[in-house]
Amino acid sequence: ANEEECPGNIKRQLAKIFEISLRETVPSESDEEPLVAACGGKFGDYQCNNAMGLFKKIKGKNTAFKSPNSVGQAIANNLPQSEMVESCSVAGPGFVNVVLSKAWLAKSIQKMLIDGIQTWAPKLSIKRAVVDFSSPNIAKEMHVGHLRSTIIGDSLARMLEFSNVEVLRRNHVGDWGTQFGMLIEFLFEEFPKWEDENDVPIQDLEKFYKQSKKRFDEDPAFKEKAQQAVVSLQGGEAKYRKAWTKICEVSRNEFQKVYQRLGVQLEEKGESFYNPYIPRVLEALDNKGLVEESEGARVIFVEGRNIPLIVVKRDGGYNYASTDLAALWYRLNEENAEWMIYVTDVGQHEHFEMVFDAGKRAGWLPSDDNTYPKATHVGFGLVLGDDGKRFRTRSSEVVRLVDLLDEAKNRGKAALIARGKEEVWTNEELEQTAEAVSYGAVKYADLKNNRLTNYTFNFDQMLNDRGNTAVYLLYAHARICSIIRKSGKDVEELKKVGEIALDHSDERALALHLLQFSEVVEEAGANLLPNVLCEYLYNLSECFTKFYTNCPVVGSSQETSRLLLCEATALVMRKCFHLLGITPVYKI
Ligand code: ARG
Repeated sequence: ANEEECPGNIKRQLAKIFEISLRETVPSESDEEPLVAACGGKFGDYQCNNAMGLFKKIKGKNTAFKSPNSVGQAIANNLPQSEMVESCSVAGPGFVNVVLSKAWLAKSIQKMLIDGIQTWAPKLSIKRAVVDFSSPNIAKEMHVGHLRSTIIGDSLARMLEFSNVEVLRRNHVGDWGTQFGMLIEFLFEEFPKWEDENDVPIQDLEKFYKQSKKRFDEDPAFKEKAQQAVVSLQGGEAKYRKAWTKICEVSRNEFQKVYQRLGVQLEEKGESFYNPYIPRVLEALDNKGLVEESEGARVIFVEGRNIPLIVVKRDGGYNYASTDLAALWYRLNEENAEWMIYVTDVGQHEHFEMVFDAGKRAGWLPSDDNTYPKATHVGFGLVLGDDGKRFRTRSSEVVRLVDLLDEAKNRGKAALIARGKEEVWTNEELEQTAEAVSYGAVKYADLKNNRLTNYTFNFDQMLNDRGNTAVYLLYAHARICSIIRKSGKDVEELKKVGEIALDHSDERALALHLLQFSEVVEEAGANLLPNVLCEYLYNLSECFTKFYTNCPVVGSSQETSRLLLCEATALVMRKCFHLLGITPVYKI
């Protein structure tokens, strides 16, 4: 593994001691990687699965072992003494099962409570990454696909940031291209005073786009002018540049409303930013002999594909791919990013694979996908409506994201009012909780699915306070906070002096699950799958419920220990919320 050790990570710590045992057991196979995984069965908490594979490798060479089981026995016997391990047993074809020590579990959680959950963060060997996400197109609607990209991208960025990676959160907005000629010309035509008016009424840019497109398609003279306008804009003519800036600004303000509601940070470096880099990047590729002529266009052939990547169109213009090649170059060479992550719908997978392949042919990226620097496309499926078709409003228009978020909030607020919160909370509390719960619900409903599958957008489902929803989880967290509050104890004090005991099996199960946070975040981050973290979070709240049902906390003889378990659960839940971009609530 190229990642460093991590103190809170059970799997890595066990792997370390199993590695020692493997070397001792079969010295000839010194590069055998320990295969350790949580198993959660009745035989143990973790399992080491090397015996079978090792037996196959050494069969006939080493006569000391008669079966995989005997290899397993030896691995178990050679396991160094460790405070982590309570006992160790061998099952079937050499599975080595480990039961973790309760004392060690308790101690590890106490340590986290004192040192902070940051000590459970995965450690990556890279310093800087680019996450290219959201990335809507100027003057076109920001649709639910962009919402998915925004939510998923933000969560991935948060996971990397938690792992101490500096993340350049890039909004690769579509702000360049031939459509701007027609938009600018239409602006001139419709609003001759566009320059001195502060507020040109093009707030509804989508309508503006459609109108100008209509004009473009119907009037050849307009079309001609629009095409000329592209040339003027790209030539940097001031008036055109100014009109372009104006149009971009209107769009940007609209996008910003969505980001602000969702609490998502992004830094815009749109397509136009990379435009000046395209000629030299293409020249560099050309010098390597990668650019060829094909049917009047300039293209790059990539292995295993019938169609090449077009980098200069027949009319001499650049396109989406030329921009992405320049952006890839820029990110690698100017921004020194080691991991470039692109979050878009799966439909763009081939585009990115081709761009990355071109980057490999150019020697920018290693051909081996497991070595940095690397580029990864993170695809996702469609958002569906209840009818199983692409999500639309009743009027079959595309859904405006701001409206969608408003509706979520109104529904969330209505539910709080129905629970009588209007009487007991200040207006501000009501607003803030409604936002946290409803935006959290929208995010969680998206993130909990494997991103590659399509998911159905349903307000009633996502705002349900039962089942696997953000509402349920946020309430669970608030309830834990209220248990702690009601105890009247100062948890900060308890953390310093109190001790955790794990005598009840539900206490132990909760503790074990808490400690698995670290390896789960590592897995979710490495595979770019936020749903793995969602599943963990949901299971954590289930573990907690079981514990709380069977183990009285306040007033019990175990009060201190159990309050500390409550606190650790709340802490881990909050970190999960944070990584999913969900704002926790403390009161319900
Ligand atoms: N603007 C594009 C779209 O709406 C997404 C851009 C993704 N990022 C990139 N570097 N190509 O589909």
